Amino acid sequence: MKILAIDTSCDETAAAITEERKVLSNVIYSQILLHQKWGGVVPSIAKRAHEERIDFVINKAIKQFKINAIAVTQGPGLAVALEVGIKKAKELTKKLKVKLITVNHIEGHLYSPFVQNKKGNPKIDFQFPYLGLVVSGGHTELVIFKDHLNYEVIGSTLDDAAGEALDKAGKLLGLGYPAGPVIEKLSLQVKNQDLYKFPRPMINSKDFNFSFSGLKTAFYYFLKKIPENKITKNLNYLASSFQNAVFDTLMKKTEKAIKYTGIKKVIVVGGVSANMDLRKRFRSLLKKINGEVLFPSYKYLSGDNAAMIGVVAYYKAKKNLYVENFDLIDRIPRMKL
Ligand code: KG4
Ligand code: ZN
Repeated sequence: MKILAIDTSCDETAAAITEERKVLSNVIYSQILLHQKWGGVVPSIAKRAHEERIDFVINKAIKQFKINAIAVTQGPGLAVALEVGIKKAKELTKKLKVKLITVNHIEGHLYSPFVQNKKGNPKIDFQFPYLGLVVSGGHTELVIFKDHLNYEVIGSTLDDAAGEALDKAGKLLGLGYPAGPVIEKLSLQVKNQDLYKFPRPMINSKDFNFSFSGLKTAFYYFLKKIPENKITKNLNYLASSFQNAVFDTLMKKTEKAIKYTGIKKVIVVGGVSANMDLRKRFRSLLKKINGEVLFPSYKYLSGDNAAMIGVVAYYKAKKNLYVENFDLIDRIPRMKL
């Protein structure tokens, strides 16, 4: 069964053709260049770019494939962006006389380590339960991934997401958008040292929730106190110390969740999971406790893409979870797992 999957949840117009867990084709048209000069995603610009590009992206993904079903991200995400994908998915479902499956975007990220290339790699199989950490520009969540399509969220951010915190700090440092990858490079220049020891909000709280806005505020006032030329000179130390504060928090909370749940199989997904320092930290933590950590196997799978949406849709199709009434399907910007 071949699925055409569509994701327009934020600033990438994405389409893929998947078959079970395999990605047969994948197209991502990033809007980063359009949003860059505004320092973040501008909804009206995102909407228009999705509208202008969606046919091109879908046609490029479809090639000669014969489609049996269509999958689309219903939420969470930017309302005006989600709408574009959903409208197109409904239109194509009617035209091609196939079935429609809606998918939660976070669910897609959770499945991303299991997404395979054409040759069926990676070969890893599901061994539930997993403890999932979703870290992206929009989300920071700790989830027990119990079985297919079965999740329990045990912690989330009370304010900014981890990627969002990195992006905001980067903006204050004049690093452009998105700042995560730039902060990673700057940090490497100083071997990821933690010179300034910025605060780690809620690191010792008893729950599994996160908070990054206090760190951002502390960082803002810290920068205000020091002269411009000192900021420029110490850009790498500042970036590295900020990254340390964010990652320490992620590690500590995940470690706490491992102890609480007893689950030693961890999956780390979402845009921030592309970061090599974060991956190293998780590998060493799980090695120490004889556990296992999985990440998305290919770089494009850590960011937003439609392949992961198609793979979730396959498991929904196996359970006959198709959309029955088209008219009831609308975007859900704050969709929960
Ligand atoms: O998953 P994603 O592409 O989009 C959302 O669903 O939000 O995540 C984007 C986020 C941005 O905040 C970006 O700065 C961050 O992921 N990011 C990184 C890296 N690459 C992307 N953060 C740290 N290190 C990276 N290498
Ligand atoms: Zn995402």
